[in-house]
Amino acid sequence: MMESPTTPVRTPTAEMRPKIAVINLWKSFQGKEVLRGINLDIHPGESLVIVGGSGAGKSVFLKHLIGLIQPDRGHVIVDGEDLACADTGVCLAIRRKFGMSFQEGALFDSMNVFDNIAFPLRRHTRMSPGDVAARVRECLALVHLDGVEHKWVNELSGGMRRRVGFARAIALAPEILLFDEPNTGLDPITAAAIDRVIVEMRDNLPVTMVTITHDMKSAQRIADRIAMLRAGQILAVAPPDEFVRLSDRYIQSFLAGEPYPDNHEEVA
Ligand SMILES: Nc1ncnc2c1ncn2[C@@H]1O[C@H](COP(=O)(O)OP(=O)(O)OP(=O)(O)O)[C@@H](O)[C@H]1O
Ligand SMILES: [Mg+2]
Repeated sequence: MMESPTTPVRTPTAEMRPKIAVINLWKSFQGKEVLRGINLDIHPGESLVIVGGSGAGKSVFLKHLIGLIQPDRGHVIVDGEDLACADTGVCLAIRRKFGMSFQEGALFDSMNVFDNIAFPLRRHTRMSPGDVAARVRECLALVHLDGVEHKWVNELSGGMRRRVGFARAIALAPEILLFDEPNTGLDPITAAAIDRVIVEMRDNLPVTMVTITHDMKSAQRIADRIAMLRAGQILAVAPPDEFVRLSDRYIQSFLAGEPYPDNHEEVA
């Protein structure tokens, strides 16, 4: 039986080894440079939020962290292990440290909620059916969705689907959680409720979290630090209260929701 991950270990300090170190990461697709030399340390136990315009490379960046996309140049180091150099066994072990809720990440429509969350447990552990059922219920309780095990995915609202996705992402008690736009397409009230679930996970689970969002309100609620990705580079990283005071004109336009004259998508 897997232990319930309930002990808060939120102790990010600069002296600690980064949970993830991203070093000079470059990636092009069909000659278009999407990531252009990203350097970023993600501290153990912190909640890092990445913001940036559409097409800035946020999802591509996140997929590098878990090794779903290989860089052209540069390194992703997880707990001191270089994803690029690790052999297959080590790579799998590193992959197992992650739970991810993808931007496009649909649940399995052909399964009910229970089977969606049980899927990684049945695939990657030897837990007994009773333990699987207990863990599924535990994960649903963590996202405040008790009693929906037998519903089909298409019976759920958008906000419930996201929460089932979170429950599936945390099922294997990952050390690192990646969320790609957990709020997109939800009304502001449901989006705020999703943020509360993320904040609870941040505070109650021993995880490092990286969340992508377009939504600055959401970023401020969730983040220990906010990083702005622009044109394939990290423009700034700062705690939320400092971030909103940064004088950079692009960041100020982004915060105000105003168009910026030389947005890289137009000049790329
Ligand atoms: N597999 C791929 N093949 C080719 N181009 C890709 C691929 N994945 C991403 N791109 C391109 O890389 C750029 C960055 O994409 P990415 O999905 O990371 O943007 P994003 O910042 O997540 O945007 P959004 O906020 O709209 O989700 C885009 O121009 C996209 O078309
Ligand atoms: Mg994206």
